Amino acid sequence: MSRDPVTGAAPTVVLGVGGGIAAYKAAEVLRRLRAAGCDVTVVPTRAALRFVGSATWEALSGKPVTAEVWDDVHDVPHVRLGQTADLVVVAPATADLLARAAAGLADDLLGNVLLTARCPVLLAPAMHTEMWENPATRANVETLRARGVVVLDPAVGRLTGADSGPGRLPEPEAVVEACLGALAGHPRDLVGRTVVISAGGTREPIDPVRFLGNASSGKQGYALAAAAAARGARVVLVSANVALETPAGVEVVPVGTAEDVRTEMRSRAAGADVVVMAAAVADFRPVAAAEHKIKKDEEGGVPSLALERTPDVLAELVADRGGAASPIVVGFAAETGDGTGTVLDHARAKLVRKGCDLLVVNDVAGGRVFGADDTQVHVLRPAGAPPVTVAGPKSVAAHAVWDAVAGLLGGRPPVRPDAPPAAPDAAG
Ligand code: CTP
Repeated sequence: MSRDPVTGAAPTVVLGVGGGIAAYKAAEVLRRLRAAGCDVTVVPTRAALRFVGSATWEALSGKPVTAEVWDDVHDVPHVRLGQTADLVVVAPATADLLARAAAGLADDLLGNVLLTARCPVLLAPAMHTEMWENPATRANVETLRARGVVVLDPAVGRLTGADSGPGRLPEPEAVVEACLGALAGHPRDLVGRTVVISAGGTREPIDPVRFLGNASSGKQGYALAAAAAARGARVVLVSANVALETPAGVEVVPVGTAEDVRTEMRSRAAGADVVVMAAAVADFRPVAAAEHKIKKDEEGGVPSLALERTPDVLAELVADRGGAASPIVVGFAAETGDGTGTVLDHARAKLVRKGCDLLVVNDVAGGRVFGADDTQVHVLRPAGAPPVTVAGPKSVAAHAVWDAVAGLLGGRPPVRPDAPPAAPDAAG
């Protein structure tokens, strides 16, 4: 997260807190924003203070806290806070708060901040499913999004009480990730686009307890999903055996095997503007998985495994193109340089062989990349355009990929311009 290049000041964030049970999770959002170097002022609503009192917010933020416009009037906080913020984030944003924001009501301090903000505004809703799906709330969300407000979709899961469904507040980590993306000023150039990304590593069963797997952590695929969501895309993440937090605004489809990845990616590619094969898909699998656990042989023998090739999903996605929807296809490859050529030589040959629109090449010399937070990638485009090389966090590599994708998308009309954005994880 960047400080002001001229003054060196920390980014100024207003954290609005709505009156829902998930207000307690905003304490963790606050803690994480401060840990990321933000100067945070908390502005709760009156109802939020019934869930979590001002002592908590003041102690965690190190600043006085009020819901009213009548405190410290000499300082004109109802105008100053919104005008000077680099980001306003509201978590949780209740149905009532969305309605008031859409209508432009300013009967408390947070309403005034929302009306005076000139910076990015990010709302993380949390409410019961019925409220989220109510046409009034849908219309308010559409109104706010049309004005450029980033309204995350709530997560799906357990709500207050016994019921579950869409309405959970995204996990604090995901909300903060979205905040940092907004502060970094990434373009909203994927609004209206649907992107489908595979991530992680497939597992091919040998028997009920064993599998052939690989070392992929899924970090690059998840970084791609988070970056695409931050740039406004509706994101579906076909996730193979990954233990990472779901990024805000992303719908996760859990899968296990190469065959699962094939089924989900091919069926979803038809409605997508972009498909990205970031998953490490097994190249081989046992011809048949044993129905029961394979026992050790008392004589010390070992079983032999008959293997067969798995389908090449990337090749199939390339071959499927040509119909009404022809998504941009992005492939990944892991390369090392050797006696026959450099990483880029091998990568260029692979791009031609694979026939995809972009190839993202990981330089994996010396076991780099697997499970790491940093990476080095080359983003290759066909037709002789020079590759873009990026070294650094996987989030930075992810944005380099989306920069290249956005260039290819150009003025193409979106495949599903009116479809709602993908659901992230929300409430509490
Ligand atoms: N891939 C796939 N289906 C497979 C195997 C791989 O769709 N059964 C995809 C991966 O998701 C990735 C790309 O193909 O996008 C990787 O291609 P691959 O030829 O496997 O490249 P490398 O991993 O670099 O391996 P190798 O050089 O050994 O071919």
